[in-house]
Formats: sequence, structure tokens, C-alpha cells
Amino acid sequence: MKVCVIGAGYVGLVTAACLSDMGNSVVCLDIDAERVLGLQEGRMPIHEPGLDSLVQRNAAAGRLQFTTDAAMAVAHGTIVFIAVGTPPAEDGSADLAHVLSAAATVGRHMTDYKVIVDKSTVPVGTAAQVQATVAQALRQRAALLPFAVVSNPEFLKEGDAIEDFMRPDRIVVGADDEQSTLLMRALYAPFLRNRDRLLVMDVKSAEMTKYVANAMLATRISFMNEMAALAEELGADIEKVRLGIGSDPRIGSHFLYAGLGWGGSCLPKDVQALHRMAQDVGVQLPMLKAVQQINDRQRQLLAERLVARLGESLHGVTVGLWGLAFKPGTDDLREAPSLVLIEELLRRGARVQAFDPVAMPGVAARLGDQPGLALVNHPMQAVQDASALLVVTEWREFRSPDFAELKRCMKRPLVLDGRNLYDPAEMRALGIEHVGIGRAESQPQATHAPMPTLSLAA
Ligand SMILES: NC(=O)c1ccc[n+]([C@@H]2O[C@H](COP(=O)([O-])OP(=O)(O)OC[C@H]3O[C@@H](n4cnc5c(N)ncnc54)[C@H](O)[C@@H]3O)[C@@H](O)[C@H]2O)c1
Repeated sequence: MKVCVIGAGYVGLVTAACLSDMGNSVVCLDIDAERVLGLQEGRMPIHEPGLDSLVQRNAAAGRLQFTTDAAMAVAHGTIVFIAVGTPPAEDGSADLAHVLSAAATVGRHMTDYKVIVDKSTVPVGTAAQVQATVAQALRQRAALLPFAVVSNPEFLKEGDAIEDFMRPDRIVVGADDEQSTLLMRALYAPFLRNRDRLLVMDVKSAEMTKYVANAMLATRISFMNEMAALAEELGADIEKVRLGIGSDPRIGSHFLYAGLGWGGSCLPKDVQALHRMAQDVGVQLPMLKAVQQINDRQRQLLAERLVARLGESLHGVTVGLWGLAFKPGTDDLREAPSLVLIEELLRRGARVQAFDPVAMPGVAARLGDQPGLALVNHPMQAVQDASALLVVTEWREFRSPDFAELKRCMKRPLVLDGRNLYDPAEMRALGIEHVGIGRAESQPQATHAPMPTLSLAA
């Protein structure tokens, strides 16, 4: 099948690469000429395991092309995916400027029937706006061409994106006509050979599904963070509680980790946008509001706990930091807790020594010229002469470090474990001061400020 993918970011690039790997002929269009040139030369703009070989293989086979030539790209695809960014606008709503600009591009350049697929995460009602934008562009050309707009939200996880796309739990397609539904079914059939997991529904329900999925995931994490605060006060260990509840199939074990809260490129903006959608139709979402408030509080926790142990001023104090990306397996820094933390530590006068296996170039571009911040090449360099280590991202290589060396390197062996990677009893036996999240055993004194009183009013 001939496919055009607009946007060569996390979603667009993975979509284009995986579709081409199934034998489709894919042209991927982006307005960022540097990104396109890099891709044409085999350089990936993002870190995503397995993506480079997939792109290179399919580009070499002639099934995958990258271009800034909108006319060529749009003319090529019978199915045209819109996979551009939908960042938050000032008021928290999803900014649709890129999506509607992509829709106008399709309207300006299409020459025959197209199925236009909203893959970006877009508020309920966006398909109608895309429809209107394409129709207007066609009217301006006095062109009478048929097209359908379909919603097909993406559920991939950064760090596992290829696997998620190749072996999806489900594919949601919101479509109002038979022809576009049939084409979408045909396109996805190779990904669903063992079992049909394609859910066809109306467009609005498909658009809403994506937001509700992310809101549910955020809710599970905030719930566990709320329970973690309680566990510390009651003398329990949230990690044991997590195992105890996660084995119940009605609950399931995913997204139950207490930690530094949810961040990243999707959950924060999608929760905000869902609030905004509700507000626009006069509906209150008290539960989701609490989910957000708990998260805002959680993201300050490590800095508060550090200050509680080392004092308000951190002048002359060296702090080691492990993990900069918002989660392992990616170099994505959007809404990463590390960035807020680094700024707070520098503001208090600390010298920060940070390490991440892949995200350091991105941090260097954003914060590199800050005096007081050193991006180092090895985890042990980050803890040299440090009075505390903050564990921010649970990269695998941080799970079982050489604790004896860690202790030797550090001025004070204090580990603030924002991801509960280490066993409190083991750390105590090693003579390391360990502070986890929701683990009474590693809280010599209660340090968790009470959770905010939540006002359920708008
Ligand atoms: N990143 C994720 O894990 C993820 C998962 C599921 C859904 N989503 C959703 O998918 C969408 C894309 O997210 P992303 O993380 O891939 O974004 P991204 O920022 O990584 O990539 C967007 C790309 O679109 C390009 N672009 C912008 N406007 C364009 C235009 N008019 N024509 C051509 N190219 C254009 C940009 O240059 C950029 O390369 C968002 O709505 C996001 O919420 C993201």
C-alpha cells in the first residue's frame, strides 16, 4: 500500500519505519530540513532502540523515503498519516497548529482519494476540524476530490516503540465510512495475524480513548504516590504493597510504581488537555484534578528531602544525579523531572554532577552553559566527592552498581532513591543512608510533608 506519514518524530518515524517493514511503500514528510537530511544520511533524530536498523534496512530496500517535498509526499500516499506534535497551548488545551497546518498541506497537494489519519493525540472534535481544513484548501484550488478523515491514536511507549507498533495490544480506528475502514483494516492486517485486535468505533470515541488511557495511567501512578506517603507514616513499605496488590488480576501489575511522579512528552500535556476539554463543556473532573495535584507535589519530593538532610543552602555541596531522560530507553527530556531538579539544586548553590546513558547531549543543549552543572561520562564520576546521590531515572545500569565503590567515591553516602531501585535493608547493611519513596524502613524520621488538602471546587 502507498503511505505518506507527515512528521518524522517519535510517532511518525516509528509508524513510517514499521509500515515500510511490512512491505508498504512509505514517504515520510517533515518540515525540519536538517532532520530530513540526517534521516536521508541514516542518522536518527531520536534514541529509540532498534529504530536505526529498521530505517536503514527499509530505506536501502527503497520502501522508505524521507523528504521535505510536500507535493511529492502527499501525492504518493493513498493513506496519509498526520503524526505531528500537539504541544500544550497557554490555556492547557492541545495546540492544533501543526495538525491543521499538516491538514492544509494535504488539501493543497492531494490529487486523488485520500484517507487522512489523525495519529497525533488530538482533542475530541479535531477530525471535524481537519475535515474542514482540507475541504477549504480544496475549495481554494477549486478541486473536487474525495477524502475521509479517520482517527487512529497511537499507544506506543518510548523505549519500546518498535515492539509496541509491531505487536500492538489493540489498534483503535475511529471511522465513519466503510471504504476508509476497509483500507485501515488492510493496512494493519499484517500486524494482527495471530488475533484481530482492531477496534473500530466512531471518530469521537476513538479520539477520547487516547486521553482516557493516559489519564488512567496517570491516575494509577498518583494513587500509588499518595499511598506511598501514607505507607511512610504507617511504617509500611509501598514496594511490598505494590506486589501484594499487583498480583490481583483485577488490578494488574503495570503502572503501580511509586516514584517521582509522571512526566514525559504525553501524560502531563494529555491530562491538562483533558481538563480543558471538560471545562469547555462545563464538566468538573475532581478526580483528575487530584491526580494532577498529587503529581505536582511529588515532583518536588527529592529536592525537599535533600534540603531536609543537607540544609536550605547547598553552596559548596556536590550532588550526584543519575538519569536525565524522563524514563529509561529514550533521550526524550520533555517534562523530565531531572530538569526541574537540576535547576532547583543550582538555584540553591549546589554543584551538580549528572550522568545519563543517552540524554546528555539534549541536556547540554538546554542547560550546558550553566556554571555548577557538570555532565560526566560515567556514573561513578557523578558521585565523586558528592554529599548525596539522586537516582532520577531507572536505567538498567543503575540497578546493581558497585556499592562499595559508590561509598568510596562519595563524601557522604546518602542515596535519595527516587525510583525505589535499592533494597533499604541491604543499603543499611552496606552503611549507605538510603531514602526511598514510600518505604518506612528507609525513613529514619518522617520527612514527607502532608499531602495538600485537595479542593474539589473548580
Ligand atoms: N512520543 C510519544 O511517546 C507519543 C506516543 C503516543 C502519541 N503521541 C502523540 O503523537 C504526536 C506526535 O508526537 P511526537 O512525540 O512524535 O512528536 P515530535 O515532536 O517528536 O515530532 C513531531 C514532528 O513533526 C514535525 N512537523 C511539525 N509540523 C509539521 C508539518 N506541518 N509538516 C510536516 N512535519 C511537521 C516536526 O518537525 C517533528 O519532526 C503528538 O500528538 C503526541 O501526543 C506521542
